[in-house]
Amino acid sequence: MPSIKRISTNDLEVGMYIANSNNEWIPNGNLSRCGLIKDPLVVAKIKSLGIPEIYIDIARGKAPESLATSNLELIKQKENIQSLLKKPHIRLNEKTSFDAELAVAKKIQSEGLALVESVMTNVKYGQAVDVNSTKELAGNVIESLLNNQNALLCLTQLRTKDKYLVEHSFNVSIFMGILAVSLNIMGDELNDLVTGALLHDVGKIKVSDGILNKPGKLTSEEWREMQMHVTFGEQYLRDVPGLSKEIIDICAQHHERLDGSGYPRKLAASEIPLHSRMAAVVDVYDAITADRVYHQGMAPAIALKKMVEWSDEIHLDKDLVYQFIRCLSVYPQGSFVLLNNQRLGIVQALHKTEMKKPVVTIVYNLEKNIRVPNFPMDLSDPSCSCKIERVVLPEEYGLNLNELLGTLG
Ligand SMILES: [Fe+2]
Repeated sequence: MPSIKRISTNDLEVGMYIANSNNEWIPNGNLSRCGLIKDPLVVAKIKSLGIPEIYIDIARGKAPESLATSNLELIKQKENIQSLLKKPHIRLNEKTSFDAELAVAKKIQSEGLALVESVMTNVKYGQAVDVNSTKELAGNVIESLLNNQNALLCLTQLRTKDKYLVEHSFNVSIFMGILAVSLNIMGDELNDLVTGALLHDVGKIKVSDGILNKPGKLTSEEWREMQMHVTFGEQYLRDVPGLSKEIIDICAQHHERLDGSGYPRKLAASEIPLHSRMAAVVDVYDAITADRVYHQGMAPAIALKKMVEWSDEIHLDKDLVYQFIRCLSVYPQGSFVLLNNQRLGIVQALHKTEMKKPVVTIVYNLEKNIRVPNFPMDLSDPSCSCKIERVVLPEEYGLNLNELLGTLG
């Protein structure tokens, strides 16, 4: 089991070992601040700085009593997520500004898409997958999400119709990271879930393009071939050294459904672990919001609404669907919205409490029918009287969301 744990600073004690990664307590890589705590004054100093959480290594020091087991282990034992969902939803404070993180996120996205593409090519030709680079990419995604999740979230809206498979894999990793962090899954477990999401659909590279991109309904034979992507992927990943059970589960079980109607194994709910249920939720969300060759994706807010309506029908874990909505808010980043002052804008950042009053980057004035220079408007500001009327599609106004998103940051 991974030994790096995130704990509340209130639980910090003498005898614990401060890990050297992801700690606000260790600015600029100052590693003299990690290691075994021997002096109560160090504990007092860290607590006085107001740092809410800290990473410790329980293999090298004492573990807090409250951390008897990891969250994932807890789920496996209890077979339900109620206990986690009752905990307050974790949305971390932004460590960096949206603009600063957007530049980093764009680089992660372009490198990430290239890496996923090369992984797919390797799978196609039966060559080795670069596990280390994939895990490193997962680590970069996580780091960016922990810095300011708004940046990568906004980029999930940038799509190219003919790059669906690669973009879908990358986006699913972002959504998985956000959902996992909200359930307080951290460290190696978090990296495994994000890596699993990056690799969940690798078997699709073995399915013919004609079937993957077919606009109409698949014949039963085509549908069988489509379903085979899971088996292809699982078989491939099982032979790759260094992949955890969770990573392989995410690939093998992301189409299993709680009523046993999923594929390929028709697993019962009790046989589908949390990480595979999470993969199912984020996979469906990205699939229905994506523009495909043959249809336009749903707006994010509409997709979330539909997922609640459908969750009984499509047998996703409803608790996780709700948790995902709490993560993305009613108006997810990248949503294109109409304000009551006849301005159009893109949701850029969310507030922790004011879910319906995000920061919106105004891009268009409908009264004058003109594109206006981007300017951010914080709807939660007490002096701001504007509010969101509804989510709209940019195409209704002759605008292109990809182009507009490219002008942010
Ligand atoms: Fe899939």
